[in-house]
Amino acid sequence: MGARDFLTLEGCGRAEIREILELAAACEEGRMDGSLAGKTVCLAFFEASTRTAVSFELAARRCGADVISLSERGSSISKGESLVDTVVTLDRLGADAIVLRHPAAGAARLAARFAAAAVVNAGDGCGQHPTQALLDLYSLSRALGGFEELAGVRAAVVGDILHSRVARSVIPAFRAAGVELALVAPRTLLPLEAEVWGLPVLSSVDEALGWGASVLYMLRLQRERMTGARVPSVSEYARYYAVGRRHLRPGVRVMHPGPVNRGVEIAGDVVLDGASLVPDQVAAGVAVRSAVLALATGVEQEVAA
Ligand code: NCD
Repeated sequence: MGARDFLTLEGCGRAEIREILELAAACEEGRMDGSLAGKTVCLAFFEASTRTAVSFELAARRCGADVISLSERGSSISKGESLVDTVVTLDRLGADAIVLRHPAAGAARLAARFAAAAVVNAGDGCGQHPTQALLDLYSLSRALGGFEELAGVRAAVVGDILHSRVARSVIPAFRAAGVELALVAPRTLLPLEAEVWGLPVLSSVDEALGWGASVLYMLRLQRERMTGARVPSVSEYARYYAVGRRHLRPGVRVMHPGPVNRGVEIAGDVVLDGASLVPDQVAAGVAVRSAVLALATGVEQEVAA
């Protein structure tokens, strides 16, 4: 069965997303356990990660794959080996899927040009983070009672959109699922392409609630990617763009891809509140990434057949 790269959610359709989320549900029920037996999944993480790396590894193991983990330290990358040469090496060593996280936008697409193995993008710089957006939709649809319930829901994407690969995947994926979106960010944290999205731009969490948002999707202030001062101060930022207890009206749900800067994007006492889907988002990672690995390696067709 052919390898299928998994690089971006730009241009994704409703049916495609639905298919992946249904497969994720099958994975969660254990129906895909062992389906990757005999396959080799290589995790190549060249940037820090906790939940993405762990959940991909758990997903691959649960599906029965052989798992190889490579990081910058301890591999020949630290001797200056290029991304392309690293990927070609993993490919020729027999990887069926290469899960790649890299600080440069476009890295996964570049890797895919040189690998016969399926390349799964686990986050490329300010580019894309497709499995994050899928697990977000999985946990939100679970919380709402099903995929159909996503249609017409109003969600505000709040914070550092400029530096966020999560936002660049969440926006097309949520839209494809029928979610209505607004952006909430200071102009200094909005990318130029924000105009192309054609979404309303609001200037505080309060405005988002006034607009009718029942989902507040909070993004981390990515200080490691900022070259100049883009916000006057963190406390000034938090005044307009952090969600606090006072925002938790009935039915409002708070999401965040993690890691959370407590008190900056979400008040400390809200992170694990009943209104927060943050723990559910983490939990959805294993099932959704199992589904993506099954699709990437083509084994889901054998299971379905
Ligand atoms: C995000 C990432 O690394 O892109 N986290 C994640 O994968 N759960 C978001 C972030 O770092 O802010």
